[in-house]
Amino acid sequence: MTNDFKKTIKSLMLSNRRHRGGNLYTLPSPESYPYQWLWDSCFHAIILSHYDISSAKEELLSLFVRQFENGMIPHMIYWQKKTASDFPVIEWGKEDTSSITQPPMLAYSVWQIYQKDKNKKFLDQIYPNLTKFYRYFLEYRDFRGNNLISIINPDESGEDNSSRFDVVLGLPPKHSLKENFKKRLELIQRNRECKFNARTCMKNFFWVKDVPFNSILVENLKCLSDIASVLGKHEDADLFFDQSKLIAAAMRKHMFEDGVFWSLHSKMDIVGEKISYKKIKVKTWAIFAPLFAMLYTKSEANKIIEKYLQNEEEFNAPFLIPTVSLSEESFNPDGFWRGPVWMSTNWFIYKGLQKYGYETLAEKIKQSSLDLLEKSGFREQYNPLTGEGYGAKKFTWGGLVIDM
Ligand code: GLC
Repeated sequence: MTNDFKKTIKSLMLSNRRHRGGNLYTLPSPESYPYQWLWDSCFHAIILSHYDISSAKEELLSLFVRQFENGMIPHMIYWQKKTASDFPVIEWGKEDTSSITQPPMLAYSVWQIYQKDKNKKFLDQIYPNLTKFYRYFLEYRDFRGNNLISIINPDESGEDNSSRFDVVLGLPPKHSLKENFKKRLELIQRNRECKFNARTCMKNFFWVKDVPFNSILVENLKCLSDIASVLGKHEDADLFFDQSKLIAAAMRKHMFEDGVFWSLHSKMDIVGEKISYKKIKVKTWAIFAPLFAMLYTKSEANKIIEKYLQNEEEFNAPFLIPTVSLSEESFNPDGFWRGPVWMSTNWFIYKGLQKYGYETLAEKIKQSSLDLLEKSGFREQYNPLTGEGYGAKKFTWGGLVIDM
């Protein structure tokens, strides 16, 4: 990557930076996303860790300011709420934040920062809140003790209207953004009625054990275990490591079929207390997400790469990597999370491929990401067939190429 390009990333990050009440955070996109988002901030910290460690730390610390009593960190913190006419916000039942969360990338970002400056003080400072966040998932999102963590709303996956959730929302593979939004709003209305209490009422409406979310959690629990070790908290280190192993084993037991990990839903199958999972066999980038946590064996990884990643009828599009397979009925090259390339998913797959030693393939994804940024700028998503950019402008996620 050229120095000029690095400069472009730095200046984008700086122009999206905001300060509020002594807290620093970065807007994913000033026009389209004028608040702080949880996993976005983790991506921001990863980007910033390459040239501005102290801002990377501040970006993460601001998330804890609005941590819930039970440990959850909301997926949106408004800081300064716009009026509804400025920016239509979904009513999540709270004044200053949303009431749901997002993929738990925090420990990974903290660990990355520590790799850069080896400063234990920051780890010490952040540790109590950080562990509380991860304990929240173990305690409140797996109350049957099956070692699979649930999301209670599609937006918690970070892939708001992904084709993976169609069947659970009762939507056909092809539908409009408006129809999808209507269903999601209905769900949020029910969420509000039951006060977003995951333990009691969510299972009646939407209850998905998502592959990327659980893969991300497995990898992050390993990071958390490493953080605990550095701080000499060996019991915690063992606990988080064991938890990551338990989730990985449960994923294999319940999600793995035909060489692929599939997300599960259970909404229809709750009979009394007995639960049976249904696999959601829709081919999205989630097929590759377990690479990030090394959940496939090397030979399984080989197979999914050959069968899906390098197959022109599936994910090997002119621009890499579509979020939904070209062969899916739901595939739509300009359909938000229903086909376009997103930079975060490229980053996850890139990291996963590297772990298995697929350097050339990883490099190809990095190059395709750079090509997209060059061709269409820092946009939210890109058409995998033409490279055209869509959605939010001045979108920060393109900065992740600095970490590839
Ligand atoms: C969209 C994305 C979500 C992201 C948010 C802010 O809602 O689907 O993943 O966190 O925008 O960038």
